[in-house]
Amino acid sequence: MDLIQGFEKRDISLLEENVFDILDKEWMLVTAGVKDNFNTMTASWGGFGILWNKPVAIAYVRPQRYTHKYTEDNDIFTLSFFGHGNLREELMFCGSKSGRDFDKPKETGLIPVTTPIGAITFQQARLVFECRKLYADDIKPSCFIDSSIDSKIYAAKDYHRFYIAEIIGYYEKQS
Ligand SMILES: Cc1cc2nc3c(=O)[nH]c(=O)nc-3n(C[C@H](O)[C@H](O)[C@H](O)COP(=O)(O)O)c2cc1C
Repeated sequence: MDLIQGFEKRDISLLEENVFDILDKEWMLVTAGVKDNFNTMTASWGGFGILWNKPVAIAYVRPQRYTHKYTEDNDIFTLSFFGHGNLREELMFCGSKSGRDFDKPKETGLIPVTTPIGAITFQQARLVFECRKLYADDIKPSCFIDSSIDSKIYAAKDYHRFYIAEIIGYYEKQS
């Protein structure tokens, strides 16, 4: 697997993105694992912010996802964005099929590459965040203040595990 090429590592303070828009509309791939043993899935729920004096990203992964095993077993994951309207079929594939049953890069043509710290992303990405897990927990039904969310989103009781992670690398594809 090749090292990420054509990207510039930048300071997170230079990020110029509407994070609500890119999460909700562009979607992202959450990828965890190492060369020869990783998985990726499409996600649109997440967050970016400042916590414990660090720039952080939050990813939400339901327990039945194959990716869950990888986000649990690895300290690092990446969040990769591909541009508005780009690679929709590929992102739908990664968001509807499981890595248990399919080799997602092979099926989609997404080209896995490693970041300098050995995290996995994809050559076609335009924006990549390397994330180091700081804190993880599961959404707890007893903690809902608005209980309508519980019945609406978690009918199957498949409460997301969430990972608050330090953004340790931010890469932009150079045009
Ligand atoms: C647009 C979109 C957004 C999604 N967002 C999430 C998410 O934030 N968290 C999650 O657990 N699953 C999310 N999913 C569902 C997973 O991507 C999907 O279940 C995927 O097949 C899991 O693959 P895996 O079993 O290989 O991990 C989303 C799917 C799509 C299409």
